[in-house]
Amino acid sequence: MRKGGNAMAFSDFSVIKAKELETNLFHNIADDWLLICTYDEENKRENLMTASWGGFGVLWGREVCFLFVRPQRHTHALLDRCERFSVSVLPSSLHDAHKICGRLSGRDTDKMAMTGLTEYRPAEGVVSVAESDYIFVVKKIYEDTLKESGMLDPSLMTNYAQKDFHTVYVCEIEKILKKKA
Ligand SMILES: Cc1cc2nc3c(=O)[nH]c(=O)nc-3n(C[C@H](O)[C@H](O)[C@H](O)COP(=O)(O)O)c2cc1C
Repeated sequence: MRKGGNAMAFSDFSVIKAKELETNLFHNIADDWLLICTYDEENKRENLMTASWGGFGVLWGREVCFLFVRPQRHTHALLDRCERFSVSVLPSSLHDAHKICGRLSGRDTDKMAMTGLTEYRPAEGVVSVAESDYIFVVKKIYEDTLKESGMLDPSLMTNYAQKDFHTVYVCEIEKILKKKA
């Protein structure tokens, strides 16, 4: 991992339970957007990807988040190689960071450096950004690829002109950190 992370102390965040969340996750996902943070061993740097499709809920009696990642994303390759990673909500003042994280690929860009965000490690072997309002440390427990045969509304296929069906990742939420006021 890149040296010099954790510029902010662990005490800048409180550990909360899912049922203590007071934020509107629909607003966070659709309007603030999520930041999927993974670690790229090959390039020895964090990778940050903007995501606005996903959800939080309960499955198999576990608190989970669902993420949908297209196969061509660098993040997809990095998710294939890791078990745990993080999903963050940034404050709206940092929305511009998503213009980089949602447009450029970590294959050829150090997005942490370009955005000026600060590495933060919310758990052993997991990277995130210190500026987050919320950090979800998650563990993949199921993945599958969406299929054309499953699209009950044929108009959904307008999202798949290249047949690049998303992989759905169901991830158990292991820890939630909330930035202290
Ligand atoms: C607002 C917004 C939301 C996005 N949501 C997703 C998403 O949910 N799934 C996905 O695969 N790509 C999504 N993208 C596209 C990726 O963020 C984008 O392709 C990114 O450059 C991929 O980075 P990577 O190659 O480093 O993984 C979104 C982009 C934007 C701007």
